Amino acid sequence: MTKLRMGIIGSGGIAQSRHIPSYQQLTEQVELFGVYDVDYERAKEASVLFNITNVYEQVSDMLKDVDAVTICTPNKFHADLAVQALEAGVHVLCEKPMAMSVEECDRMIEAEKESGKVLSIAYHYRFMKEPRAAHQVIQEGEIGDPMVARVQALRRRKVPGWGVFTNKQLQGGGSLIDYGCHFLDLSMWLMGNPKPVEVSGTTYNRLSKTPEQVNLWGAFDHETFDVDDHVTAYIKFDNNVSMLFETSWSANIAEDKESVSLSGSNGGLEVFPFQLNQAKYGMLLNSSSEWVPGDEDPGLPQAANFVNSCLGLEEPIVSSEEARTVSQVIEAIYESCATGKSVQL
Ligand SMILES: NC(=O)c1ccc[n+]([C@@H]2O[C@H](COP(=O)([O-])OP(=O)(O)OC[C@H]3O[C@@H](n4cnc5c(N)ncnc54)[C@H](O)[C@@H]3O)[C@@H](O)[C@H]2O)c1
Repeated sequence: MTKLRMGIIGSGGIAQSRHIPSYQQLTEQVELFGVYDVDYERAKEASVLFNITNVYEQVSDMLKDVDAVTICTPNKFHADLAVQALEAGVHVLCEKPMAMSVEECDRMIEAEKESGKVLSIAYHYRFMKEPRAAHQVIQEGEIGDPMVARVQALRRRKVPGWGVFTNKQLQGGGSLIDYGCHFLDLSMWLMGNPKPVEVSGTTYNRLSKTPEQVNLWGAFDHETFDVDDHVTAYIKFDNNVSMLFETSWSANIAEDKESVSLSGSNGGLEVFPFQLNQAKYGMLLNSSSEWVPGDEDPGLPQAANFVNSCLGLEEPIVSSEEARTVSQVIEAIYESCATGKSVQL
């Protein structure tokens, strides 16, 4: 079988910690063919560290040589690079969020359609063990029709102090677009991708106002901190489905919390840790899960799904349209906070 020639665009943290090591495990299907980064030295360093065949000074040159790319740059560059790659006839896996605005997502989808190539987004929570189990349980009808989602993605004092995560111009926002996006994606996917119709949100930026901050993930400059650090939202979908949503990089809580809890017409479930709650056989049944080792790294199934999609063997688990809906909700939350009104979609 001819191998898929993979190019990496942006060879920083997530490229080195997740994507490249995952492709390295798929040696039968993938050749790590090239790497490009605006910082040439960083690309070179990655090529040596991971044995990537070619380092490029121009992304356009790499696009002539590869079949697929994985985009791991700051959010601002996702859309232009994805469109450029698709127009060059190259499949794209782009890091989350899909882009900084819905308009950018639409440009990416248009290029995807015109090229006939794969465009998928790295919402890796979908590839984790508990979410996969939850998805299957819901698909098999165990909770009936999903009605209400309660979602909390809260970190205690963990603002990413490295990279450009607190720079609105390069990232488009803070805790919501960087961290909360995973949980919007995951919960909407579990609920069967309902269509959002109304969004009301509140965002906070209190960290910018205090010079001395306790932060467990490195230092950041409070004066240039211009993104949200805490966000709440209420999202209404068609079919009377609704979501209560909260995310933060820096909540004043006892410990970090990642909770996705769904109530359906016949039962409910918690995703982390997995628990199914039903009223059945005249009883209230609560089934919990026991940890089974293996298959913990979501990077590998995510990479395998992208590669198999490029080879025409599978459909992408994360479609571009679904990722666009996540961006649509994020944009509406920011707009709702700016205008003080709910946003009709
Ligand atoms: N899935 C996840 O959980 C997860 C985790 C971390 C980061 N991310 C996403 O990955 C992306 C990158 O984050 P990171 O933590 O790796 O950041 P990083 O700062 O460690 O690396 C980004 C790299 O991109 C390079 N770069 C910047 N502009 C470029 C351009 N125009 N073309 C090519 N290279 C360019 C930088 O030089 C740097 O090496 C972001 O979109 C972020 O949201 C996702």
